[in-house]
Amino acid sequence: MNQTNIALLGFGVVGSGVYRILTENHDDLNHREVLDLHVTRILIRDAANVRDFALAPQELFTADYGEILNDDSISIVVECMGGVEPARSFILQALRAGKSVVSSNKEVISKHWHEFDAEAKARDAGLYYEATVGGGIPILRTIMDSMQANNITRVMGIINGTTNYILTKMSEEGLDFDEVLHEAQSLGYAETDSTADVEGYDATYKLSILASLAFHAHLPVSVIPREGITKLSRRDFAIARQLGYEIKLLAIGKKHGSQIEVHVHPTMLPKTHPLAAVRGVFNAIFLTGHAANDIMLYGRGAGSMPTASAVVSDIICAVHRAGRHRYITFANAEELSTAVQLLENYESRFCARLLVEDAPGVLASVAGVLAKHNVSLRSVLQPGESDTTDARLTLLTHNAAAQSVRAALAEIAGLSCVRAVESLLHVEE
Ligand code: HSE
Repeated sequence: MNQTNIALLGFGVVGSGVYRILTENHDDLNHREVLDLHVTRILIRDAANVRDFALAPQELFTADYGEILNDDSISIVVECMGGVEPARSFILQALRAGKSVVSSNKEVISKHWHEFDAEAKARDAGLYYEATVGGGIPILRTIMDSMQANNITRVMGIINGTTNYILTKMSEEGLDFDEVLHEAQSLGYAETDSTADVEGYDATYKLSILASLAFHAHLPVSVIPREGITKLSRRDFAIARQLGYEIKLLAIGKKHGSQIEVHVHPTMLPKTHPLAAVRGVFNAIFLTGHAANDIMLYGRGAGSMPTASAVVSDIICAVHRAGRHRYITFANAEELSTAVQLLENYESRFCARLLVEDAPGVLASVAGVLAKHNVSLRSVLQPGESDTTDARLTLLTHNAAAQSVRAALAEIAGLSCVRAVESLLHVEE
């Protein structure tokens, strides 16, 4: 049996997990997969990011990428550094050297996929990135290797664990966003700089990869409208609870013929929806295929061993498929695929919360503006706050064009009887 030599780029949370699995499970993998996998080099550029120096022999560590690139015995480079540079350059250089690349880095894959894909095809090298979406959940290979019979029409995912942890706490403990964020940061569940998570960037990187594979068309990050969770308040959760909903940060993709909609935002989901039951740091992805109908995959979307599980699965694929790697077959240019149209004015149900003057005719004025924009109301709630001259109106719409709803609310915000449009949330059923 030939030995496969592997280089790890980065030895933080993910890299150290990959090393552990490849060494601790070496004999099992050898027996089950008939493979002899060895990490022979570990690139570390910043010792501060190294999780556990004692885990691997010191002679494996190097700060010089040239030692990996020029080592012909290394056939697989595993990039788990995160960020765009130098990860992008290192991946391109590895592919140009004819090495297969496995990456867990959703940002670099989603932003530079077209470059990597072209280089991999030109060099007959493998390019694998299962760990970029949903951590330990085998979602990408499920789409590519198990759902081929389907025209996938919908993907809806909770694909960011940090925000799901925060939203679960806000929902279950009635806390505000800032309180939960600080607690999550002090417990190490959220990064000190949590922008990528709480503003929804991380979810857009993942949705770009997920929806492109599901709908077989490149949907770049740049076309995905994004809204994070920072504006949510305990009042949003109180209303959602009263109406029988949870609030989740959802990454949504839907295909209607050649039209595709993709968006990331906080969404009200009925408590009975399977995604509403996904609590804490867990992730889940709900897919609808024309043949399989609905399926949902659930698991840990981050963490050392779950993410390493996906990376090692990719390494095994890369070795088994050497010389006959499979590549995506849709045109993978930097821009949106020309084969599809982006549906920007998609339809959805919405829930708007207004602070208004408590006076006769206010509801009629608000309803009049909605009617003018062709937005139909499903229900209206006005919880009693009779000791003030203001009232809070919660409006639930039927399916309506997103741009019409936003235009209507902009006009409503300008009515003299309206103090503020306090929130606008998508609603999925
Ligand atoms: N920051 C990500 C999350 C980790 O919270 O889900 C893995 O992508």
